[in-house]
Amino acid sequence: MKILVTGGLGFIGSHTAVELQNQGFDVVIIDDLSNSSIEVLEGISRITGKTPAFEKLDLREKSAVQDFFKRHADISGVIHFAASKAVGESVENPLLYYENNIGSLVYLLQELEKKNEANFIFSSSCTVYGQAGKMPITEDAPIQEAVSPYGNTKQIGEEIIKDVVKVSNINAVLLRYFNPIGAHPSAEIGELPIGVPQNLVPFITQTGIGLREELSVFGDDYPTPDGTCIRDYIHVVDLAKAHVVALQRLLQKKNTEKAEVFNVGTGKGSSVLEVIKAFEKVSGQKLPYKIVGRRSGDITVAYANTNKANAVLNWKAQSTLEEALTSAWKWEQKIRKVLAK
Ligand code: UD1
Repeated sequence: MKILVTGGLGFIGSHTAVELQNQGFDVVIIDDLSNSSIEVLEGISRITGKTPAFEKLDLREKSAVQDFFKRHADISGVIHFAASKAVGESVENPLLYYENNIGSLVYLLQELEKKNEANFIFSSSCTVYGQAGKMPITEDAPIQEAVSPYGNTKQIGEEIIKDVVKVSNINAVLLRYFNPIGAHPSAEIGELPIGVPQNLVPFITQTGIGLREELSVFGDDYPTPDGTCIRDYIHVVDLAKAHVVALQRLLQKKNTEKAEVFNVGTGKGSSVLEVIKAFEKVSGQKLPYKIVGRRSGDITVAYANTNKANAVLNWKAQSTLEEALTSAWKWEQKIRKVLAK
């Protein structure tokens, strides 16, 4: 079966392409290479022994999307990762985010709507919950007003899909990711942020390798046990596997709603200081850091109730925080050597 993975050379997309190929699916990747590199294709190939089909394509070009689906009429499912994801940039340039994240989604759904049957997996985010009132967060927690255009594109994307499935043959799964970290244990693929990393774990590993002087911990005066924010960090390979089981559920027509929603996290919250300690343990070195002021827009605590995904998808995150950090550290060491050549 042929599966389209949009944004398949990106961080989560590439790991999902690997898991799909491991399960015997034929993968076609489209990616505009705006925040990824063509070498990722070779990484996927070295891990799985198979190079996925690839087309460089910008999903904002409606005619190119139409043409793609004419040439690939036999696609059985679409996993849609292609989107911009920098919160700060989305505040600076909201229309870029609405055009890229919403326009592309509409063009894809327009093509899927023409099919007799279509299966669609959407990359959503726990950001839709804002600061939830109750921990752990269940899927029925209220959606809160987005603090950034990026977050808003995830909320609007979910709404668009929920409207479209009602009047089409499209079945969808919306996966609300918590905080994906880590890399493939082979260190053949991983996260490669352009410029200064905004997310915690890439900043930590880049500091560990000496690329950054020290980590700034954004606030230690939050109402948490050690004063730093708490998040649910999930190994990207576990997250990738959740996409495969969600897709299989749709392909086997086991879904009970036309758009099902699942939290994808570990169910365990870790503070920033706990992540630093875990990194120090797995890397065997001290991490230089300082406490600075809070980052605007940060919530205090978010971790998932994963009962629904555990029961319905028969999926559970397997890796610990330390295992995820070990893979992230191995990847950082490898990629710096490669880039230095
Ligand atoms: C961030 C985005 C979120 C997006 C997600 C995608 C913000 C406010 N939120 O989530 O919308 O869906 O990335 O991956 O940007 N931290 C530091 N120092 C750093 C970096 C982070 O202390 O240099 C802290 C943050 O304050 C936070 C935690 O580490 O408490 C995790 O931060 P991050 O990795 O950026 O993830 P989120 O903020 O949860």
